[in-house]
Amino acid sequence: MAVDTAEAAEAAEAARQAMGGIGVSLARKEDARFIHGQGHYVDDVVLPGMLHMVIVRSPHAHARIKGIDSSAAMAIPGVIAVVTGELLAQHKLAWMPTLSGDTQAVLATDKVRFQGQEVACVIAETKYIAEDAAALVSVDYEPLQAITTPQQAIAPGAVVIRDEKEGQTDNKIYHWEAGDKDATDAAFARAAKVVSLETFYPRCHPSPLETCGCVADLDPVTGNATIYMTSQAPHAHRTLFAIVAGLPEEKIRIISPDLGGGFGNKVPIYPGYVVATAASLLIGRPVKWIEDRTDNLISTGFARDYYMDGSIAIDENGKFIGLRVNLLSDNGAFFADAQPSKFKAGLFHIVTGSYDIPAAHIVANGAYTNKAPGGVAYRCSFRVTEASYFIERLVENAAVELGQDPVTTRLNNFIQPEAFPYQSASGFEYDSGDYPRAMKVALDMLGYDELRKEQAEKRAKGELMGIGVASFTEVVGAGKGKDYDIAGLRMFDSAELRVHPTGKAILKLGVKSQGQGHETTFAQIVAEELGIPASDVEVREGDTDNTPFGLGTYASRSTPVGGAATAVVARKLRDKGKIIAAHLFEADVADIEFAKGKYNVKGSPDNVKTIQDIAFAAYTNLPEGIEAGLEGVTYYDPPNMTFPFGTYLVVVDIDKGTGQVKVRRVVAVDDCGVRINPMIVEGQIHGGLTEGFGIAFMELITFDDEGNCIGSNFMDYLIPTAWETPRFELGETVTPSPHHPIGAKGVGESATVGSPAAFVNAVIDALSHLGITNIDMPITSDKVWAALRSKGVTE
Ligand code: CDP
Repeated sequence: MAVDTAEAAEAAEAARQAMGGIGVSLARKEDARFIHGQGHYVDDVVLPGMLHMVIVRSPHAHARIKGIDSSAAMAIPGVIAVVTGELLAQHKLAWMPTLSGDTQAVLATDKVRFQGQEVACVIAETKYIAEDAAALVSVDYEPLQAITTPQQAIAPGAVVIRDEKEGQTDNKIYHWEAGDKDATDAAFARAAKVVSLETFYPRCHPSPLETCGCVADLDPVTGNATIYMTSQAPHAHRTLFAIVAGLPEEKIRIISPDLGGGFGNKVPIYPGYVVATAASLLIGRPVKWIEDRTDNLISTGFARDYYMDGSIAIDENGKFIGLRVNLLSDNGAFFADAQPSKFKAGLFHIVTGSYDIPAAHIVANGAYTNKAPGGVAYRCSFRVTEASYFIERLVENAAVELGQDPVTTRLNNFIQPEAFPYQSASGFEYDSGDYPRAMKVALDMLGYDELRKEQAEKRAKGELMGIGVASFTEVVGAGKGKDYDIAGLRMFDSAELRVHPTGKAILKLGVKSQGQGHETTFAQIVAEELGIPASDVEVREGDTDNTPFGLGTYASRSTPVGGAATAVVARKLRDKGKIIAAHLFEADVADIEFAKGKYNVKGSPDNVKTIQDIAFAAYTNLPEGIEAGLEGVTYYDPPNMTFPFGTYLVVVDIDKGTGQVKVRRVVAVDDCGVRINPMIVEGQIHGGLTEGFGIAFMELITFDDEGNCIGSNFMDYLIPTAWETPRFELGETVTPSPHHPIGAKGVGESATVGSPAAFVNAVIDALSHLGITNIDMPITSDKVWAALRSKGVTE
């Protein structure tokens, strides 16, 4: 009997693996082509007669353009055209709208407003000729004073950067508030203790391995425009192209092939895309534009650059009762990042985090500076990263001031599991969570108590060791469409599923993978719902002619929205399958049962029709009055977002003599609800932790007083390699999302959102007894050494 049971369990497990449904760590389908070097990226697109475009960029951060002489460039054989802003202005294309409702220069006409801004484009027969000619385009600049910080920008009398905008008399972009000021003031008035923090989340860059680029192919005869483009949101980009360029939308086909990473960098529309398209239209030949690394680092979507200060009000029992945060964002010369229109500082108001804080008030202001347009949601859901960093750093400091272990402070103030769905003071309804459980799993994995003892012993000997804690909560999966949009387009998403007569399926999605493994995980959802093995489900994304309209992939929204659409459409087909099964069984539809890809009549579990039988019948043997085929499409508007969470713990040792921080341990416990593919989830967390580590300790794009970008290549802008990256120890809890059809929450960004605070808190935990309560990222050894020296701790 026992043997039979074991054999049955083994057979069931083998069947589960073969089906590849939810919870199976299937090897990624797409890796076959990536590992064999057979990925197909924009730069692999080569079309007959294709020309190459190179952008001439401004060396100045702020300067008036007095003239552009392109005669020397045009004289080089093989140069076809030099496009300037003046030429574009004749076609009303010199300026374009941004995703945040601002305008951005496509090619500068009046002034340049940041170093690296696009001034002219050379179109030539080869990339080499275009590069040579670009160096010969002579631009006469009259340099102006550059503004490089938002504080300078909003100071009275500051030179106005956007003087071309009617009615713009200063450098302010927006003022936005969330929460309840009066309730928060009242909480602070009765607080027993108030703890404050002022911090800066510096500029960093998503820097995907593949830079941005496009190949625009406009057929002058048919008017068809095919644009191969590094796009995380091809459908939204198609619509915006139609609006910006005045092209008929039905003639535009955007193809976003394999992407070598995106991380938010490939959400905005960049001038290069627009000029290449306009040039192809005017010249009548395909035009390719591919950024080099420096172009990418100095001119495209930066992230963060947020100055934040705030306080937490605490009552006599150590309970948080109010939170105030002010922030000032540096958006560069154009407000060009993507935000849902109602939320000028993205979803920063998630800043109450994992804590039950009854009153909160957030005041956000944005400023123009002479820096590249920034503020893209780099691996985060619209400013969630900055918010998570702020609250987790503030709670760390609150623990120091309360004289408590930071775990105790958190456990005392967590939203309790029974409080979900939880209404936050800043306006979110958290779907589900169990923060104490995730904390406990992390503490046990780390051996927290032992390490605290070790720390005390070390401290007694004058050695520096720290344990950092961060318990983040994210908000991912925008919409619902009523509240969240991009440039007015409601944030739903879509899935179209067709089952062919032989029972194999094709699934087409409105989201777009940049390496997250969608071809595998979305097939797994179909396998779970319909019982068609994941290996028989082909997943297609990124071609606007061949996929249903969707808002694309960023803000960890693919699984919460596109994944939900997939489950729903599969269920529609399952229901149609019941009608066909009833016909085949000559039974009543109400009597048909379905499980794991098999239909049967109630009470006859052994007489089954498989989903493959049903698919064949859908084309060969249908009941009267039922349409042929087994296919459907779903546009899914989520009822709410999902709120993944976790606890990250980091252990560091610090060398007092050099200030060098060595990361000894990283424990990351994530809860993203039901995991579709546990291995892919772990891969996402590994990647996110690596980026969080890089941001915390290495990455910085800064500017000198004249606005020269420091950090324009990978020698100056340091991203972590396997050499620097610490080992990660991963754990999990599973708290399903109650409103998602399969209980999944997003996860792609969790680790980048949650980990920087854990790394920094570990450093502060090592130093707080010396009176050091903040060091801004990146925490380099010289900063730590200077802090130690300021406290008289030197060796
Ligand atoms: O939108 P994006 O793809 O960047 O993020 P995501 O929806 O969090 O998904 C990242 C990858 O992890 C995808 O392949 C998902 O299907 C997978 N995933 C999963 O297997 N289980 C989850 N609960 C969440 C994501």
